[in-house]
Amino acid sequence: MRFFKRDVAAANPAHGKGGVNHNNNVHIIEDPRKQVYHWQSEGGGKKSSVDDMVLLSKITESAIAENLKKRFMEDKIYTYIGPVLVAVNPFKQLPYFGEREIEMYQGAAQYEVPPHIYSIADTMYRNMLIDSDSQCVIISGESGAGKTVSAKFIMNYVTRISGGGQRVQQVKDIILESNPLLEAFGNAKTTRNNNSSRFGKYIEIQFSSGGEPLGGKISNFLLEKSRVHSLNEGERNFHIFYQLCAGATSDVKNNLGISTPDYFSYLSESGVYKVDGTNDAHEFQETLRAMSVMGMAEQTQMDILSVVAAILHMGNISFVEQNNAATIADNAYLEFPAYLLGIDAQKLAQKLTSRVFDSKWGGKSERVDVTLNLEQAQFARDAWCKGLYSRMFDYIVETINKAMVTDANLISIGILDIYGFEIFGRNGFEQFCINYVNEKLQQIFIELTLKSEQEEYKSEGIQWKPIEFFNNKVVCDLIESKRPPGIMCILDDTCATMSAVSEGADEDFRNKMSSQVGSNPHYQPFNHGFTIKHYAGNVSYHVESFCEKNRDVLFTDIIEVMQGSTNSFIRSLFPDVLQKGSKTRPTTAGTKIRTQANELVTTLMKCIPHYIRCIKPNETKKPHDWDEQMVKHQVEYLGLKENIKVKRAGFAYRRPYHKFLHRYAILTKETWPAWYGEPTEGIHVIMRSVNMDPAQYQIGRSKIFVKDPESLYMLEESRERKFDHYARVIQKAFKKYFSKQRYLKEKVAASDLLVNRKERRRNSLNRNFYGDYIGVEYKPGITALIPRRDKVEFALTVDKFDRRFRRTKRDLILTKSHLYLIGRMQVKKGPEKGQIKDVIKRQIKLEDISQATLSTYQDDLVLIHVRNDYESLLEIRFKTEFLMVLNNKLKERHKRELPLNFINSFDFRVKKTGWGGGGTRRVRFTDGTTDEPLFSSSGSTLSVKIAHGLSSTSRPGIHVITPDIRILANEMRSSKRPSQPSSRGRLHPPSQNHTNKSPNGSPHARPSGPAPKPPGLIGLSPRPPPGAGGPQFRPPVAQPVTNPGFSRPPVARMPANPTGGPPAFRLPGMGSPPIQAVQPPPPPSDPCPVNQPSIGNGSLRSANRPPASLPTKPPINRPKPGVPQVRALYGYDASDVDELTFSEGDIMVLVQEDKSGWWTCRFRGQEGFCPANYLEKM
Ligand SMILES: Nc1ncnc2c1ncn2[C@@H]1O[C@H](COP(=O)(O)OP(=O)(O)O)[C@@H](O)[C@H]1O
Ligand SMILES: [Mg+2]
Repeated sequence: MRFFKRDVAAANPAHGKGGVNHNNNVHIIEDPRKQVYHWQSEGGGKKSSVDDMVLLSKITESAIAENLKKRFMEDKIYTYIGPVLVAVNPFKQLPYFGEREIEMYQGAAQYEVPPHIYSIADTMYRNMLIDSDSQCVIISGESGAGKTVSAKFIMNYVTRISGGGQRVQQVKDIILESNPLLEAFGNAKTTRNNNSSRFGKYIEIQFSSGGEPLGGKISNFLLEKSRVHSLNEGERNFHIFYQLCAGATSDVKNNLGISTPDYFSYLSESGVYKVDGTNDAHEFQETLRAMSVMGMAEQTQMDILSVVAAILHMGNISFVEQNNAATIADNAYLEFPAYLLGIDAQKLAQKLTSRVFDSKWGGKSERVDVTLNLEQAQFARDAWCKGLYSRMFDYIVETINKAMVTDANLISIGILDIYGFEIFGRNGFEQFCINYVNEKLQQIFIELTLKSEQEEYKSEGIQWKPIEFFNNKVVCDLIESKRPPGIMCILDDTCATMSAVSEGADEDFRNKMSSQVGSNPHYQPFNHGFTIKHYAGNVSYHVESFCEKNRDVLFTDIIEVMQGSTNSFIRSLFPDVLQKGSKTRPTTAGTKIRTQANELVTTLMKCIPHYIRCIKPNETKKPHDWDEQMVKHQVEYLGLKENIKVKRAGFAYRRPYHKFLHRYAILTKETWPAWYGEPTEGIHVIMRSVNMDPAQYQIGRSKIFVKDPESLYMLEESRERKFDHYARVIQKAFKKYFSKQRYLKEKVAASDLLVNRKERRRNSLNRNFYGDYIGVEYKPGITALIPRRDKVEFALTVDKFDRRFRRTKRDLILTKSHLYLIGRMQVKKGPEKGQIKDVIKRQIKLEDISQATLSTYQDDLVLIHVRNDYESLLEIRFKTEFLMVLNNKLKERHKRELPLNFINSFDFRVKKTGWGGGGTRRVRFTDGTTDEPLFSSSGSTLSVKIAHGLSSTSRPGIHVITPDIRILANEMRSSKRPSQPSSRGRLHPPSQNHTNKSPNGSPHARPSGPAPKPPGLIGLSPRPPPGAGGPQFRPPVAQPVTNPGFSRPPVARMPANPTGGPPAFRLPGMGSPPIQAVQPPPPPSDPCPVNQPSIGNGSLRSANRPPASLPTKPPINRPKPGVPQVRALYGYDASDVDELTFSEGDIMVLVQEDKSGWWTCRFRGQEGFCPANYLEKM
């Protein structure tokens, strides 16, 4: 069987996390099998697109584009091809990049949650930690497709979810702040992208083995420095120039001679000064802030800005030509740049208009001063400026690197955000280099996802039908090959033979190409240049200034002048060691980029790669604008179709035998701690233990291949469960050891809160504090409502009083930041109509809890006051523990204590709902005769009568009894069952809206099928279903004490309120008979023996019932022949008080079978429920 996303979730609901729908403050938990996310509502229930294109029914470029389009129009920008993420630029802010999503994607398997870049980031982070392997993500796509934005999302996610600490925080700040800094100096508005990166970067975030970022490193590539002096139409120079003009203080502007951008030739050339949606002044502040985060002193920041200003002023120097020699048009323009560069104005003029050459004549070396013509002077000026700019840019990158350097050899996550493939009207040397690097990246993609993957199947002997694809290696060779020489070699050759500024060199280059690569099918010459058939399309390059840009040398005498600057920062930018008459040729730009590209490939190949393929949907930069042709073209050249084909036929996961065996050894007794037999047999043992479909994996010559990611997740989940189980065993031992002292301390602190102020309950049990009495961890409905990081500190089912003093059950969850009241709600409409969902009824930030009010009597009522909002009146059985935890949290997080009032008559505001809401109610306490409160209401007053308890000055004993915590919690949970007899003061049976119901509104039956889910209590471990080979890891849990006299037929599990309405207090005058206080119901007819805790609400409160103890030797009760009997196939520990505990082989009397899968049996004098699939009829 092939697993598809929905199948897997259905097969294993425990995997699902449940999505959350926001609906007027009510958070509805979705069944994980039918998750619909707020940005993913599937209109009209029809399935419109697939989120993994491996599932497309037709694999054509049109079908892929169509799928992407449908999703794009619904604001779903992410789609998978297996592990590859395709991201379409939405050109608008989408709402799914918040804290909630960060929580949601942490640790979530890819198929559980909608496609998202956070999922890729999370996978990288987790894989890095699991395998201790460095990871990298290659983000590719055209200019403006969304690469840089994607890179930032990844950096944000990874820094957000990784550990803390001061140094770690500093590293995180540097990593995040490097973005605005590098963008200010390296990005510019182009026609294709308002914030186009004009350099490439590879950023590595280095982590400790525990996953904390300890350092980082940025490598930058190919800054498009020609932008400093020449702009295309409609474009801008680097952002920093405009930021300086717009954002600097007047002092700084005066010092640097800065005015408006139109004053500077380097900025006015294109006439574009503003960018839509960008505030240069504001960004300037960001840039300064980022510089400070990098540890740049104020003086250094000023030095950098001086260079920026100097470049602008240099650009304003113009020349006139006389007798073929250039002179400065207006010497006034020399003063400011000379001052800013720390050199003499005359020297500046001299170096702009003449050049010193070393010339050899008759064996002698001679220095010759040569005057420059106008064109050469302009060239010298521009070369000077771009030299300064690129050195300053390198300095900034170096500073960032120094700020986050670490010498430890660490694992890393690398993010490659390199300028995308570019085709302009006129393409020059820069585009040629950029497109060459993109060609190399495509090569890696092909190499790893298409070529080597297929080759591996072949070499491993896996059954495989080859898939055709275009391998762009031929294009890479055409550009970079050394033998036979490719275009870059030919260009270097041409440069080596040309003199300083030689005319005709470019033409020379073109001719050489024609003769050497002219026959290459990917090369085509034309009048002024040549066309290359790139993987992404044909691009025509003009050869003009190819040679000059390739040589990329700053004249020696300019370097000398800079080395003589009075400004030490300028001098530090020119550390060059100049060798007069040296024969070694300086490295050309082409060689540099070729070397860098190949080094990059080597670095990337050492990591586990991930891919994000960015798609640009239009050229208008508008949301919801879909250019079909443009997208189809990208789909085609990105090789998405081939990618899908290979993925569809291929295997999601592969591992060498030994690694697989090592990782999953824990899954079976036979393989733990090591497998000594044939590796392939060991793999089969493991796979059988999880019932893996044999079609889901193949064993190759040295590796095992797993087909679908879901199957891998299944293995991972099983493994985690095993670890979790052992962790619990260890944790339990530790807890036991350390808890006693902590309990004592906590109890003293807790009783301090109430001592002298409130009477203690007469039947108060001197019990331990436990915290979670609900087992939140095992309630997916509740956990999905609470952010993962929001740790649950206290959880208990409580009674809430509404404005008519009706009592309703609520799960009170106190986390480190919130207090939640969770209830149940029946879905009224839609396909899930009738289903019961957990909903947040009230969510209060802890900081908003202003105080709490209690009476001085022994009751459990607590009024929670909320700042600027109505109060909540609750009856909280473990109020002392609750108040202590709440108080501790307030102290820890908000540095204040919880004010407590103790008064016997208080008013409270009720929630305003619609017409009849609002107003205040009063609660009044008076002396009664019972230890349990008796409630009665009249008008808007609730009267509570209760006997006096233990003196308020008494404290609980120091000796703590330890009731079996499972019983405690079970009782808490059983208190939700309306059929339980209640001994508490209550006017009516509790409202039913807390009772689980099945979709048709009938009482909720126990789930059928495999074993029931264990409750979330210490010491209980998940029990494998009988089909999984029986229990292997049984934790040493204490047996719960059951009541021998307890006997209840299954029907007793039905809610006691067949109408389903919440009968409760009704206020007189509301058309119903006046209410009278009802006495607590009589004790059960079969009373509990004194040494047993009873079942139901009041059990723990009974002072005459000492704590639970195990019955001594249960009577052996042999069933009589002739009575239907069952034999236990597996042992089972009761997880609730009305269940039976039995061991494998035990024989029991079958009292009643039930369709729900829970049969009633009698065993050792007790009757209770047993999971039918653990039993065999005899
Ligand atoms: N996920 C996204 N959400 C919103 N806007 C986006 C997103 N991705 C890209 N953009 C928009 O597109 C512009 C160009 O994206 P960018 O990442 O700079 O492209 P690239 O780096 O590929 O050239 C961004 O400035 C932003 O306005
Ligand atoms: Mg970019």
